[in-house]
Amino acid sequence: MSDGTGANALDSLIYLSKSVENHKFYYSTATKSQTIDSLENENAIHLINNNDPLSSIINNGLDENTLTTIFIDEWTLLRALPQFYTLTNLPIIFNVDLNFQDYSIAAALKDLAFPILISSDLDAFVRNAQKSIEIATQTSTPLLHFINYKNMENKKINLKELNLDIKKIEVEEKKTIHELHLDYFKLYSKNVGSAENIIINLSAYANEFINYLPTDTALIDIYIYRPWNLDLLFELIPKTVKKIVVVQNSNSESTFGIEPALLDFFADFNKLVERNIDQLIISNVSQLINVNESLQSIINNLKSDKPNERLFSGTPYATDSENVKLYISAIENAINLEDAYLKVLKQLFGSNLNIFNEFNSANVQENNPEYGFGRFLNSQHIRETLVTLAKQSLDINSYDFDAATDLVKLLSKWIQFNSVELSEETLSTANEVGKNIYEILLQNKNSEGAKKFLSISNEIQDYTFKLNWLIGSDAWSYDLGNSGIHQVIASKKNINVLLIDSEPYDKIKNSTAKDRKKDVGLYAMNYANVYVASVAVYASYTQLLSALIEASKFNGPSIVLAYLPYHSENETPLEILKETKIAVESGYWPLYRYDPSKEKETEIFSLDSSVIRNELQKFLDRENKLSLLAQKSPDFARNLKDSASDLLTKKQNARAKRAFDQLLEGLSGPPLHIYYASDGGNATALAKKLGNRAAARGLKSSVSSMDDIIIEELPNEENVIFVTSTAGQGELPQDGKAFWDQIKSTLDLDLASVNFSVFGLGDSQYWPRKEDAHYYNKPAKDIFKRLELLSAKPIIPLGLGDDQDADGFQTGYKEWEASLWEALGVSGAAVADEPKELTNEDMKLGSNYLRGTIKEGLADQSTGALCAVDQQLTKFHGFYMQDDRDIRETRKSQGLEPYYSFMVRCRLPGGKVTPEQWLVLDSLADNNGVGTLKITTRATIQLHGVIKKDIKHTLRAINSTLLDTVAACGDVNRNVTVASLPGNAKVHKQVSQVAHDISEFFLPRTTAYHEIWLQGNDDRDLDPSWPSKWENRKEGPNKKKTLIAGNALVDVEPLLGQTYLPRKFKINIAIPPYNDVDVWSSDVGLIAIIDKDQNLKGFNMYVGGGMGTTHNNKKTYPRTGSSFGFVKTEDIFKAIEAVIILQRDHGDRQNRKHARLKYTIDDMTVPVFKKKTEELFGKVFEPEQPFEITSNIDYFGWVKDETGLNHCTMYIENGRVVDTADLPQKTGLRKLARLLKEWGSGHFRLTANQHLLVDNIDDTHLDEVKELMKKYKLDNTNFSGLRLSSSACVAFPSCGLAMAESERYLPVLITKIEDILEEYGLRHDSIIMRMTGCGNGCSRPWLAELALVGKAPGTYNLLLGGSYNGERLNKLYRASIKEDEILSIIKPLFKKWSLERYDGEHFGDFLIRDGVIKPTTEGKYFHDDLPEGAL
Ligand SMILES: Cc1cc2nc3c(=O)[nH]c(=O)nc-3n(C[C@H](O)[C@H](O)[C@H](O)COP(=O)(O)O)c2cc1C
Ligand code: SF4
Repeated sequence: MSDGTGANALDSLIYLSKSVENHKFYYSTATKSQTIDSLENENAIHLINNNDPLSSIINNGLDENTLTTIFIDEWTLLRALPQFYTLTNLPIIFNVDLNFQDYSIAAALKDLAFPILISSDLDAFVRNAQKSIEIATQTSTPLLHFINYKNMENKKINLKELNLDIKKIEVEEKKTIHELHLDYFKLYSKNVGSAENIIINLSAYANEFINYLPTDTALIDIYIYRPWNLDLLFELIPKTVKKIVVVQNSNSESTFGIEPALLDFFADFNKLVERNIDQLIISNVSQLINVNESLQSIINNLKSDKPNERLFSGTPYATDSENVKLYISAIENAINLEDAYLKVLKQLFGSNLNIFNEFNSANVQENNPEYGFGRFLNSQHIRETLVTLAKQSLDINSYDFDAATDLVKLLSKWIQFNSVELSEETLSTANEVGKNIYEILLQNKNSEGAKKFLSISNEIQDYTFKLNWLIGSDAWSYDLGNSGIHQVIASKKNINVLLIDSEPYDKIKNSTAKDRKKDVGLYAMNYANVYVASVAVYASYTQLLSALIEASKFNGPSIVLAYLPYHSENETPLEILKETKIAVESGYWPLYRYDPSKEKETEIFSLDSSVIRNELQKFLDRENKLSLLAQKSPDFARNLKDSASDLLTKKQNARAKRAFDQLLEGLSGPPLHIYYASDGGNATALAKKLGNRAAARGLKSSVSSMDDIIIEELPNEENVIFVTSTAGQGELPQDGKAFWDQIKSTLDLDLASVNFSVFGLGDSQYWPRKEDAHYYNKPAKDIFKRLELLSAKPIIPLGLGDDQDADGFQTGYKEWEASLWEALGVSGAAVADEPKELTNEDMKLGSNYLRGTIKEGLADQSTGALCAVDQQLTKFHGFYMQDDRDIRETRKSQGLEPYYSFMVRCRLPGGKVTPEQWLVLDSLADNNGVGTLKITTRATIQLHGVIKKDIKHTLRAINSTLLDTVAACGDVNRNVTVASLPGNAKVHKQVSQVAHDISEFFLPRTTAYHEIWLQGNDDRDLDPSWPSKWENRKEGPNKKKTLIAGNALVDVEPLLGQTYLPRKFKINIAIPPYNDVDVWSSDVGLIAIIDKDQNLKGFNMYVGGGMGTTHNNKKTYPRTGSSFGFVKTEDIFKAIEAVIILQRDHGDRQNRKHARLKYTIDDMTVPVFKKKTEELFGKVFEPEQPFEITSNIDYFGWVKDETGLNHCTMYIENGRVVDTADLPQKTGLRKLARLLKEWGSGHFRLTANQHLLVDNIDDTHLDEVKELMKKYKLDNTNFSGLRLSSSACVAFPSCGLAMAESERYLPVLITKIEDILEEYGLRHDSIIMRMTGCGNGCSRPWLAELALVGKAPGTYNLLLGGSYNGERLNKLYRASIKEDEILSIIKPLFKKWSLERYDGEHFGDFLIRDGVIKPTTEGKYFHDDLPEGAL
């Protein structure tokens, strides 16, 4: 190729682009001069060297049918960045000359989302030159091709070798880049097997390095840098490699040892951990004189224990020209941490920048942005006075000096410059004019004409033009209405504010309402003419550049919110990067730009971060709506002038909302404003219902949260209704607190013309002690009293709803509502029938066999949520919606929707997980979840925090490993659990098989799951063979519809029917003497009966167990299964089927709180239910067979089964598989899974107590497994007996029903209890303790010897007296107690037990014998015989 003949690189590129039918060329002057001749022959267009270098391209009109090839230099490219956003979806190739030999530009631009190719030498160039055409034409994407022409000087390319048969642009059949066959990387090594180090090359020296590579070092040259294919890179990196150095051509050393190029590797920490990479650094190189020597020093540095993370070799390239300096600083600023933002500003605007306050100045006053703003206003005032004077002084006769004519000419230009928006070039001309005026004035300072000017100002900056910036901190975000921000916005002056927010996300998360920040962005966007951008230098450098340039151009106030989170000055860049990542990815800190000067409405707002920020979109939606409304009624013109605080914004919204509602409804009756406050949704739903019913009666009703009340406007309202529930202890729900705070102490409010009433929702038994009676419906009572005091007139008396009433709060409500209509004179109004509320049964029935609108809901990216019906239906598909309750309030205060995500649960009958499956789940947790796996109380695995856009991929990945999630939740038979029984392989195998078969037998038959999630291919599948895996799987989700008469293929549910079961259904199997599954807690419990030859004979069957309850609702109770007798193995399916049919047909489908089998069986009575079961079953149950169950806990440590294989039960606290500094269990399990996979033997098994077993380890591998478990502390069972026997449900932050903490609190409480146990010598005694965050009982608290069930934050009910083997329910001992009371109550009980127990007597049994608590003999007596003082 390099035979001296042929074309040079530039001509080859021209030759290739010309082979495409339609093509156009552009070039910038700084491109190598030799191009120009060739390009001029092609009629290439010259890019203007100004601030908008791409304007000539854009003005020329871009066309998707034409290949646009641009020859450009780095500096022009950087200046063109803000225009890149207009280029998407067009076939454009930027051939960028790496003129300055600085490759860090490629890394700095990596967030552009354009493909980036790098050609350092001829080899790479020949490939990339062709591929660039292929990518641009076939994917219609702009791309950057960085070319080191210098490194290829004197090399010639034989054009015939450039085989390219692309002639046209594929507009119709666009491909994705992943569909093209691209060479991303190339590996060089003398001996792949022995490479311990690797160089990732981003420099011009690949060829030289390769010559000198030692055998222990390999090199990978990057051809295609974006999309970043880390998986492929790691496939290429030899397994033996432990150390990585990125060698990057750069003109300076790395400032902090961290640079964008290095961040690419940190994008997946797990990969580094998995591959045992113990060193990852970057070394910058410049002009190398002795390449071999430099290479050796780079490798030696890499190998050393403490490498220099900023190693820099070679001499920098000449940096004399201004452009080079600017260029280098531009790159540096992409990577510099400290005052990164300031430096970028300085670099972008150079001497034209004027910062009015010195942000980092030691002088507090100068530091202050308000001070800066004052200075700015002053300078504006001077400027305006000067302009006025200039306009009056355009007569040459006003001056008595020679330069008068020049001065007048200059002044008229200067006046002109002062009235227009200045671009970067006009800015320099304008400054030249200003400077000249100033000089003439100074030279003639004694003349009267000049004196007039100089007496106003004799400082040059008042005559020249600058880009004005203020730098502020997030301190301005607390009291926006009174802050400098407000002044800046209200001034409408052309001033830019950079607001640096350094508060880390975790701090904000924990802040109290009082010190919560306001969303400055939303605040500013509520004004018409403000440019707003939200940026984060560590998330996207290019977006930052664009925002700063746009802000400075915007003629009016601009606010740029910049994120740089750190806890302390000593924070490393990596930590800041991670913080930024969390904030941006969680949606807390979205990246966006809002430019109201944009002509096209759709371009005004651009979202630059990947997480769709629904609430911001909503904001814009609202804006559109408002502007439409404003045209109709100028009353709600959206730009309230000179508003004083965010209160006005709120008013605006409230007015607009009301007006909008009315517009929609077109009503004209008397107004009725309904305000609600609600924690759990009852009061909200009731208020909405009231609103609809009022509208139906001709009233002009509006419904909103008490949060939206504008106190000063309340006196003008005519009829107002307040609907509030009661939270905490007699407190207002969160959304009513602010309102209450405002009215509780004011006497200034005159509500004499307001008619009102209040309806309260409460529970007279929520706090059952006599002295707590005043908490009942307290907020409603308080509000009513207070409004009366403020002279408001009751329309009707206070209404109260009580959960304890026969019909719950509806009982009181119906009566109250009827009198309301009476009082308002609309009771006789003819009202159409109200639509019936949609019940779960309606949802199932109308869902077309569980399809609903799930597909459409997934595609709707405007919200992170699914609609209410789909939320119910997706449970049957194995996942349901949650929101992060830790940040619910913060997000609400920011006007954001809750942070919705989904919990995905696997179906895992028998709890077995193969190592391959574990590895998939492990990586899904990291990539799509919150980074942890949760082993559940039904011995399966849950992923938390999966966001909507990742669900499909998650489910497909799970199915690709031959697991599924069908029926893991929903009104169907759930995961079937089996005792873990590690010591008996033969028995366990037989029972597990039955569990597996039961699970398959009762699966829903709908093909909806397969159709929605699995059918066809998906772009995100990691392997195209995925579909073939589940298509060939015999079990799992149904793939084929049923053929019925008339040749139609339909879904049929022969057993479950279209409405499935009334409620969830659970089947657990115990194997005596182990009851780790809590066999009596489930709808059907089976105790395996084994004969003397270890063969499974059949099962004792127990029916009607269930744990869910509702606090203070005595109609709900936990229940243990009733014995029906013995059933042979072969009959078990029929027997269970009979129970399921009975429950299907007789279960309560009206009241979900009464729908579980336990109520059906009690309502029908056990004998009747059993008889009906036998009728359907076709057999009579045989008498129960003898068995002995001794405990319901797990036994930790190693066991050898009868075949010689080893099993170990590991302790995983509350089932949360997570890495902590002390317990790196998640990594350990991943490593263990890899080992098992490699050996092809062994697997994991989960227990219903949320622990984990490693199974089937043969003796040859035993030591290695033990060693690994030791290393990762997986063998750590040195905990108290109490801790080992405890379990907690998830509760906060993800469970929507949690009233109190559970999983996060139990370990803390146990530590405190352990001190007591230690005192009485009970450390090693096993006590079954369980905690839940509400009465639903997910961790089966009612069967524990000691249980705590959450009632309200920090408050629990204490229950005692369950049996150790899980057969007897416990009972309430003390209601609503806090931690100190819990400890003081249980301490004497432990003491007594330690002193008075019989040999081996368990705690629960002792408490019963001692009379501390009465035994609960049956579920329905759970609420009876409570000890004195329990309530
Ligand atoms: C954590 C919690 C605390 C409660 N505290 C009280 C209380 O102090 N007084 C009362 O009358 N009702 C209390 N209740 C009952 C609720 O007010 C009642 O169930 C209401 O219907 C809930 O309505 P919501 O869903 O709109 O929040 C409490 C309920 C919960 C969950
Ligand atoms: S017991 Fe209640 S708080 Fe705990 S996970 Fe279940 S529903 Fe949530």
